Amino acid sequence: MDHFPTGRASFDPPAGTAEHVWRQVVDLMRDERERIGGRDVSAPVDVRELRAAIGAYDFDRPVAPAEAVDGVAELLRATTVHTTHPRYFGLFNPTPTLMGVVGETLAAAFNPQLAAWSHAPAAAEIEAHLVRFLGERLGYPRDAAAGSFTSGGAEANLTAVLLALTRTWPEYGEKGLRALPGRPVLYASAESHLAWLKIAHATGIGRESVRLVPTGPGLRMEAGRLAELIAADRARGDLPFLVVATAGTTGAGVVDPLHDLAGLCADHGLRLHVDAAYGGAAALSDRLRPALDGIERADSITVDAHKWLSVPMGAGALLTTDAEGLAEAFRVTTSYMPDEIRGAVDPYTSSQQWSRRFMGLKLFLSLAVAGRAGYAEQLERDADLADLLRGRLAATGWEIVNDTPFPVVCFADPGDGTWDRHDALARAVVGSGRAWISPVRLDGRAALRACVISHRTTAADVEELVDAVNKART
Ligand SMILES: Cc1ncc(COP(=O)(O)O)c(C=O)c1O
Repeated sequence: MDHFPTGRASFDPPAGTAEHVWRQVVDLMRDERERIGGRDVSAPVDVRELRAAIGAYDFDRPVAPAEAVDGVAELLRATTVHTTHPRYFGLFNPTPTLMGVVGETLAAAFNPQLAAWSHAPAAAEIEAHLVRFLGERLGYPRDAAAGSFTSGGAEANLTAVLLALTRTWPEYGEKGLRALPGRPVLYASAESHLAWLKIAHATGIGRESVRLVPTGPGLRMEAGRLAELIAADRARGDLPFLVVATAGTTGAGVVDPLHDLAGLCADHGLRLHVDAAYGGAAALSDRLRPALDGIERADSITVDAHKWLSVPMGAGALLTTDAEGLAEAFRVTTSYMPDEIRGAVDPYTSSQQWSRRFMGLKLFLSLAVAGRAGYAEQLERDADLADLLRGRLAATGWEIVNDTPFPVVCFADPGDGTWDRHDALARAVVGSGRAWISPVRLDGRAALRACVISHRTTAADVEELVDAVNKART
């Protein structure tokens, strides 16, 4: 291994030498794929040991690439919660598609600069094509969807708030919140993803401006309760401007009543954003798409490709039919950026980020190869496996406590409904290394949560999870 260059020569070693590194990485990925199912999904981490191992890398003493790659791979293998494991029934973190990994690699290697269209025309047009495709599947008119890829759902949701503020109060962009005649208020369900609080903090509307609307039966936002809150806020002089519906809540995968909320927004002159970071993927399946009915009435929609669309981390998207609104929210001109090309949008002038990576490629390649039908097949398979899981859990004495067409299964011990009990059960399952699940609180009620999110999961993995939770219970 001594022939591997270090120092500046390692930036771009001769072809044969670079080849060794590529081959090592390919072998490593093959090995991971073959062995992952036989490993524990996660293992306890000794933080001190981990920090010592990382601290041993002294950048004054460079190491050969093979050593660095092996060393880091070993650290990742030993300490990561393996979201690529067939029995990771966890948060919305997928096993990435092969083409997603390829897309990520090509994006890094070509490194197109996606700030200016003229620097990366193919990349910009590929992303625009994806935005139109997703928009159309979600129900926006053909070719009407605009938007941008984002680092994830939180950034897409931030973009939605900036767009809503800009469109509701044109003076917001120049003069800021102080030009508004009162306090802007937005509404999301108590089961929504709490990035809304961070977004309220960052946009300056303030955390107190987020109303977490109580959920009703089925853990869905109650339109009646929402109407009462809006009336009370208006009476107080506050300025309601945005309702956020969630299509696939983080805890229970439920979909808020989209038509009811869209109707209410129309009646009250409010904007509607749908956070479909997780559930938006269902738009690719004709069987699952009805669960999203009404989403097409939203002013903007968040969809995360790095959740149920199974591409590697770092790919969300904000979709809207309001391209002009985005252009206004992110308006800027500089002397140093390349001139705009006629008929093309420079991504940095209509999205939050400036220099950015080609996030859409991993989704583009995955879709190009699987096809929409391939995606639909996988999404429906996940839903079927979740049905199997629900049935097996119910048959062995667990109570299923959520209702969703999506593969998120929340279940509780009818004998002991405490948080401590469910927390201990989740820890026992995770500690066994056989599966990864989490405890969750749904409208105050403790439960366990298992989401079928890996395309590697099989019926046998579901059976093993059931066995693991039942052993934990005894
Ligand atoms: C419904 C929902 N919205 C938004 C987010 C935030 O997305 P990200 O983590 O990609 O920023 C999540 C994350 O799980 C989510 O479940």
